[in-house]
Amino acid sequence: MYPLRRNRRLRTNASIRGLVRETMLSPNDFIVPLFITEGSGVKDEIASMPNYYRYSLDLLKAEVKSLWDLGLRSVLLFVKVPNNLKDNAGTEALNPDGLMQRAIKTVKDTCPDMIVMTDVALDPYSIFGHDGVVGDGQIINDDTNAILAEMSLSHAKAGADIVAPSDMMDGRIFEIRSLLEDEGFHNTGIMSYSAKYASAFYGPFRDALASAPVDVKDVPKDKQSYQMDPANRDEAIKETIMDVQEGADIVMVKPGLCYLDIVRDVKEAVDVPVAVYQVSGEYAMLKAAAEKGWLDHDAVMLEQLVSIKRAGANMIASYFAKDAVKLL
Ligand code: PBG
Repeated sequence: MYPLRRNRRLRTNASIRGLVRETMLSPNDFIVPLFITEGSGVKDEIASMPNYYRYSLDLLKAEVKSLWDLGLRSVLLFVKVPNNLKDNAGTEALNPDGLMQRAIKTVKDTCPDMIVMTDVALDPYSIFGHDGVVGDGQIINDDTNAILAEMSLSHAKAGADIVAPSDMMDGRIFEIRSLLEDEGFHNTGIMSYSAKYASAFYGPFRDALASAPVDVKDVPKDKQSYQMDPANRDEAIKETIMDVQEGADIVMVKPGLCYLDIVRDVKEAVDVPVAVYQVSGEYAMLKAAAEKGWLDHDAVMLEQLVSIKRAGANMIASYFAKDAVKLL
C-alpha cells in the first residue's frame, strides 16, 4: 500500500494519462440522426435543438458529404411528414416514393458507402402521434407489426442498410426479420430499440417532427403502454434478449445518460453490439446550459459521450456527433 502504491503517478502528465486511458472515442462510434422535410432549399433550425436542422433533400446531399468528410459513416433518418398525409395506419409510410424512401436514395446516391439506418415506427405518419395503430383507446400490437414489417421492406427496397424499429411492439423484430428473409433481403440489418423507455427527454424530437401524441378522446395521451417504465431494470434484459432471439443484429438502450446502469447490464447480457441513443432532451439540456454560460459545452459533451462508451456502448446515436468528431 501507500507509499509503494501512489495512483497519482499515472496521472502526472498528458502523455502518461493518454497511455493508460481505457476508453477512446472515434468517428466510427457515431450514428448521426438526420431530420428530413419536404421542399427545396430548406434548412430549418429546430426551436428546442439549437444548431440542429431539418433538411430538404437537395440540401441533405451537402450535409451528408460533410459528415462523410469528417469521418462519420452512418446516419439514422427521420422524416417530417406533411399533416395531410397522416392517418391512423401510417399508410404513407409504405409509399415507395415517400419522403423516407427518397431520402434513402438521396444519401446512397451521394455517399454509397454511408450506412443508412431508418427509423421504423408509425408516429411521424400517425394522425394520433402514436407508434402504432390506435383502436379502442389502445395501440393494437399485431396490426401494427404487419405494417412495421411492410415499412421495413419498403426501406430495404429503397436501399436502407439497417432498419431501426423504435416502436416497442411485442414481436416486431420477428415479423420484420421474417418478411425481409422471405423477400430476399438477407443482408438488411435490424437495429432494435430494445430497451426504450417512456421518457420525458423526447420532447424536442417530437417538436422537430411534429409527432407528439395528440390530446383527443379515446387516444392514449402518452406512450407508457408500450415504452418501458423508467423504474425498471430487469425488464430491459427481458426485452433485449427477446429481440436478439427474434433476429436483432444490434440492440439499443434509450435514452443515454440516465440509463447507463441499463447499458452495462445489457452489454453483459447479450453477444451483439449495443447502441445507445443520446436523445434530443439530453442535447437540449446541454445547449441551454452552455448558452447561459453555466457549463463548458465541449468539455461536458465529451465527458458525456465517453461515459456512455465506458458504460458499454459500442456505438452512440448522438446529435453531438459532428461537434464531437471535430474535437477528436
Ligand atoms: C419514434 C422515435 C422517437 C425518438 C426516436 N424515434 C420519439 C418517441 O418515441 O416518442 C426519440 C429520439 C430523441 O428524442 O432524440 N418512435
